[in-house]
Amino acid sequence: MDSITTLLQNNERWASRLQAEDPEFFERMEEAQKPPFLWISCSDSRVPANQIVDLEPGQLFVHRNIANLVVHSDVNAQSVIQYAVDVLHVEHIIICGHYNCGGVKAALDNDTLGLLDHWLGNLRDIFEAHKEEISRINTEQGKVRRCCEINVKAQVFNVSQSPFVQKVWRDNRSLSIHGLIYDLHDGRLKDLGITINESISASDYLGK
Ligand code: CO
Repeated sequence: MDSITTLLQNNERWASRLQAEDPEFFERMEEAQKPPFLWISCSDSRVPANQIVDLEPGQLFVHRNIANLVVHSDVNAQSVIQYAVDVLHVEHIIICGHYNCGGVKAALDNDTLGLLDHWLGNLRDIFEAHKEEISRINTEQGKVRRCCEINVKAQVFNVSQSPFVQKVWRDNRSLSIHGLIYDLHDGRLKDLGITINESISASDYLGK
């Protein structure tokens, strides 16, 4: 699995199989997309969006980056959110983090990584704000695990602060932002129970 030829051969086999199983599949794909979910997750190759929730093409509108961050000034992420809520009218936005996230681990270390430090600085700010809780955890593995969860919670809140999301709620439309976390160890997704359905202040949310 290390050449473009392999990828092209895999694609041919995949498309032929789908066509054989469902002859109208690709005709349906040509119609406008109407995915019910916006899925925001890590770029990590072990966390493939559609596969881990067993959904076919057309069901997830996806944005991925290192450590599944939604940064207020990130034109890319905010454009995806705007398109998802304004045009696709998704009613669910999912932040899907994962345990053992390399981005989270790197942010907890002091190494200098170049451009990545600017990106991971967003995580370091979050962990700084939670340093008391994190310092009470005894093991390194436990710290990383908890930080992966803390990050998902922070990103759920960041999505809720997007002006495009706020407008949806002002217009009395339904939109829920969910925080899930994926365990590489057993392939299971866990709902962190931190869903936001309406405009909420930082102090209310962080005290939750
Ligand atoms: Co990751």
